[in-house]
Amino acid sequence: MVHNIAIDGPAGAGKSTVAQKVAKELSFVYVDTGAMYRAMALYLLRKGVNREKPDEIGEACQNAEISIEYQNGEQIVLLDGENVNAHLRTEEVSAMASVSSAVPRVREKLLDLQRKLARTMSVVMDGRDIGTTILPDADVKIYLTASSLTRARRRYLEYQEKGEACDLAEIQKTIEERDQRDMTREISPLCQAEDAVLVDSSELTIDETVEKILSVYHSKV
Ligand code: C5P
Repeated sequence: MVHNIAIDGPAGAGKSTVAQKVAKELSFVYVDTGAMYRAMALYLLRKGVNREKPDEIGEACQNAEISIEYQNGEQIVLLDGENVNAHLRTEEVSAMASVSSAVPRVREKLLDLQRKLARTMSVVMDGRDIGTTILPDADVKIYLTASSLTRARRRYLEYQEKGEACDLAEIQKTIEERDQRDMTREISPLCQAEDAVLVDSSELTIDETVEKILSVYHSKV
């Protein structure tokens, strides 16, 4: 029997860290849908597509071949057969993904892939529209959020650990702009599904957040 957990929420709420831990606890597969949108963005950047032109994005995305493999529990995103995981976490890709993910043809292209994965195995899938659009029948839906300042502080620490120069106010501004785009776009905007459980991680540790989600799962399944 296949079970699905959908975790949606804004950038920097801790979705991927928490989703991976929940998946490990339950021996489910973790599916990172943001990485698929990022791979599409990388494709568009490589093709030199203008991010101001949704029609060009919609046209170009048709030729991208994106697929997923799992190696030792890690999700590998293949773009035209190439493992592109190492290229997905740049600011340039983040910015393009945030714009191109609002283009309907981009979303249509990735919807099937996401649904197929959830049909064939038990997954913890994170994204923006998993509970509302991709897996409306998921056993558990979580809307994971945190204040923009908390999320900006987390990003700031990540940059500092990597030794990269950064500015807290600037990071917070970028996060709020991305939230605004994700929440106000016409197609599949980021919002809490009616039957989703709201988890605010501002005052919670990662392990406390994981515990909370596991207890929701065990109370329902
Ligand atoms: O979660 P992550 O930051 O990797 O997502 C990158 C971008 O992809 C987000 O800014 C969002 O616009 C988009 N996205 C989406 N729907 C998803 C996952 C990500 O629109 N299910």
